[in-house]
This record gives sequence, C-alpha cells and structure tokens, in this order.
Amino acid sequence: MIAITAPKKGLGQTVVSINLAIRMGSLLEDRVLLIDSNKYCCGVVDYLSNSSWTRGLDEFKINIESGMGIGQNPHSWSKTINPRLDIMASNQYLQLIEKDIEKLKEYTNCNYPIALVDTIAGENSLTDIFLKKSSIVIVVLTQNKSEIRLIKDKRLYGELKDKIIFVINQYQAEINAIKIRYGLKEISEELKELGFKQNPIFILPYDVDLVNECNDSTLLNFSMAREHQSSPYHKKLDLLARETLKQHGNLVLTNNIEKVKKKGFVFNLFNL
Ligand SMILES: Nc1ncnc2c1ncn2[C@@H]1O[C@H](COP(=O)(O)OP(=O)(O)O)[C@@H](O)[C@H]1O
Ligand SMILES: [Mg+2]
Repeated sequence: MIAITAPKKGLGQTVVSINLAIRMGSLLEDRVLLIDSNKYCCGVVDYLSNSSWTRGLDEFKINIESGMGIGQNPHSWSKTINPRLDIMASNQYLQLIEKDIEKLKEYTNCNYPIALVDTIAGENSLTDIFLKKSSIVIVVLTQNKSEIRLIKDKRLYGELKDKIIFVINQYQAEINAIKIRYGLKEISEELKELGFKQNPIFILPYDVDLVNECNDSTLLNFSMAREHQSSPYHKKLDLLARETLKQHGNLVLTNNIEKVKKKGFVFNLFNL
C-alpha cells in the first residue's frame, strides 16, 4: 500500500494520486487500486466517477464485519474505471479503525499488484494510520515556504522518514522569465535541515492542460491521452512512478522487455 498525503489540502494531492495510479498501471500492465479515504472531499470519485454511488470503504467494513472473507467477493467494493484502474470510494457513514485498515491491506495484497490511498491532508488520525501502515508515503508540496513549517510541525513525517518520497507539484522554475527564488535547491536544503537527508524529491511541473481538464471534469483524458505522453509533466510523472515501483519492489516490465529484445538482437546477428 502506498499513501499519498500533504501537509495541507489544495496542493494537488488527489490529482497526483490519480495520475500516478494510472501511470503505474500502464508500467505494470495490470490494474491497480486507488482508495479514496477523504470523506470531506471525495476527490477521487469527483474526478473519475459520474455515478452518484460508488462502492468503497463503507461496504468493505460492513461485509468484513458480517464475516465475509477478503477473497470471497473481491471486486464488490470497488468500481472499475478502465483496464488499469479500480477505485474505492471513501467511507461516509462508518468510522474506520486500525483493524479495518489492516484488513484492507490484506485485501489489496491479495487482489492488486499495488494500491494507492489518497489520504486526508494535514492532521487527521485516520491519515496517521494509513501513513504508518503504508510501505511508501508520498508527501505532496508546492513552492510555498509555509508548507515546510507544516512538515516540521507534523512529527509523524519525521518518524516515517525512511519511507517518504517528496513531490513538489505545480512546479515552476520561473514566471515570465523571472526566476522564482524558492526553487528545488532551496526546498531540498530546507528538507535536509529537517532531517530528510536521503529522501528522493521529484517535481511535477505546472501544466495548464491539466488545469483545464480538471475544470472540465475530464482529468482521465489528461492521464490517458497519448498525445500528452511526451509533455514535461508526463515525463516527470514517469520518473516518479518508476522510482516508487522500484522502492515498492515491483518489477517494471518495460525495462525487462527492452533488455530481452537487445539480447535477441545480438543472438540473431551471431547466427547470421
Ligand atoms: N501539476 C499541476 N499543474 C497545474 N495545476 C495543478 C497541478 N496539480 C493540481 N493542479 C490544480 O490544483 C487543483 C486541485 O488539485 P487536487 O488534487 O484536487 O487538490 P487536493 O487533493 O490537494 O486538495 C486541480 O483541480 C488543478 O486545477
Ligand atoms: Mg483531494
């Protein structure tokens, strides 16, 4: 399980979760699960599902408590968005406790190569459970100095520092040729000062197409469209997805195929 979080809301955490899930699904050539755990915003469902009712964490908890095994009804708690992505809606009525998250982890381990959780940003006890139970925590930031202070204030980030990957979202090196002083270098220096010395830091550039697709409720177009794939945003997203998969222990098949192809080519030449 991989948790996506942020020191406060509005930094683009849900969009990162969706795009990363889809990119990982394509790299793995398999369907991944994205769990919405934010009952206050329901961002994942709002961006991706036009049905008013999407199955998710409430149904999961009810069924598990009534004695249903995790392998019994594997796809009755999620909605399939496309061949690379299933989503689970956040709990709306029931409170989740640690035991539920453990069961959820068991369920995702059995049914998906990878599961991502879009958490509630900032201070929240359910988010803390998800962060502790996840093998990787992706912390989304932007170029705002006040966010570094929030990182410092949240002690759990420090405790979990070995599994944190930082993402600076909506990154702009300069606006109208004026260099922004609070850039990657300054942010990484400040994070190092807070003790995050070895943590990978990725950037995801500001992308105007992404803003438009979000406003038109067509984010999936942006995530899936082939013509976007060479954009700076998608190139950086690809790097983030590969590193996350590597840390999570998943093989990225495309690399292996490239290697196998190269070997095959050498072999053919030799035979000639
Ligand atoms: N890389 C980006 N470039 C430009 N705009 C972005 C980017 N990431 C997010 N946004 C904008 O931020 C808005 C909020 O993102 P969202 O993921 O819903 O925030 P959060 O979940 O952190 O509250 C999006 O609708 C989009 O307009
Ligand atoms: Mg959100």
